[in-house]
Amino acid sequence: MIVLGLESSCDETGAGLVEFPQGRMLSNVIASQHATHAVYGGVVPELASREHLRNLEPVVREALQRAGIGLEAVDGIAVTRGPGLAGCLHLGLSAAKGLALATGKPWIGVNHLEGHLLAAFLERPDLEFPYLGLIVSGGHTSLLDVRGPFERVRLEGTLDDAAGEAFDKVAKLLELGFPGGPALDVLAQGHGDGGNVDFPRARPKDGGAGFSYSGLKTAVRVHLEKARREGTEVDKAAIAAGFRKAAVDPLVRKAVAEAKRLGRHKVVVGGGVACNRLLRESLAEACAAEGLEAVLCSPALCADNGAMIAYAGGLRLLAGGRSPWDLGVAPNLGETEA
Ligand code: KG4
Ligand code: ZN
Repeated sequence: MIVLGLESSCDETGAGLVEFPQGRMLSNVIASQHATHAVYGGVVPELASREHLRNLEPVVREALQRAGIGLEAVDGIAVTRGPGLAGCLHLGLSAAKGLALATGKPWIGVNHLEGHLLAAFLERPDLEFPYLGLIVSGGHTSLLDVRGPFERVRLEGTLDDAAGEAFDKVAKLLELGFPGGPALDVLAQGHGDGGNVDFPRARPKDGGAGFSYSGLKTAVRVHLEKARREGTEVDKAAIAAGFRKAAVDPLVRKAVAEAKRLGRHKVVVGGGVACNRLLRESLAEACAAEGLEAVLCSPALCADNGAMIAYAGGLRLLAGGRSPWDLGVAPNLGETEA
């Protein structure tokens, strides 16, 4: 069985093909809209929708071409139905329904976050449930106990800004362009380890569960304002390195602690922030120190892509799942929903 997966929840248009039962990735094509949104310093939903409308057909065509197959070889169509920007999701869903109608093949709406949590299987088919899942993206910072492909328990989540959102906002304060997360990572990496600006760790005000990043973002803003007021030199790399460390620390600390508490042996990370070099290094190190394994996919599978949707949707199709024609988008779909 070959499944085509479509992704259009935010600012990447993705199409991927995955062959089952092996879960082998045949192709994974992404059209990024970064150039379109860079001028505005953030994703403009209306422009994102227009780009998806333009890009969906070419990415599907290219995914088929790279896999060396025609549309007639596709046995099912999977598409992100949420969470994400409503207008963007509508484009993907309409495309999937159109393809299903034209080919007579079944289609299935997929939770984008399920895609992030299962993407690792595309590179690690030997992976086994249960594992500790960490989603770190532009919209989510979530820890989950992943018990099966469709079964997971939410342990902790985003309280204010998501991890990726915090990276992007701080990068904006440092005038690093858009998207800021990767640029901030590069700047911090170049700074090395010495002489970071020390920011408070991102933790909820009441010390309870959950990930909070708005205080850390404010700390960076206050630091910059003070430096400008006093006319002291602003060392952007030292600030970036200090912020990155403060942002990554709680992710690593909580992921390892929860894995140990639940007796899980693997921590699987998904979402764009999983591309962050410090997160990758420190999680691998912290896990190794506890006899755990950190599973981090290659960057193309961490960020939004169609193959992870094809994989998650394919598993559901194999289990007999089918979406009805009247299924709509779900912009606020939660981590544990279908
Ligand atoms: O999963 P994703 O591609 O889209 C969402 O579902 O949100 O994640 C995008 C987020 C953005 O906030 C982006 O800045 C962040 O991931 N990101 C990074 C890095 N690469 C992407 N953040 C920190 N360091 C990176 N290297
Ligand atoms: Zn995502």
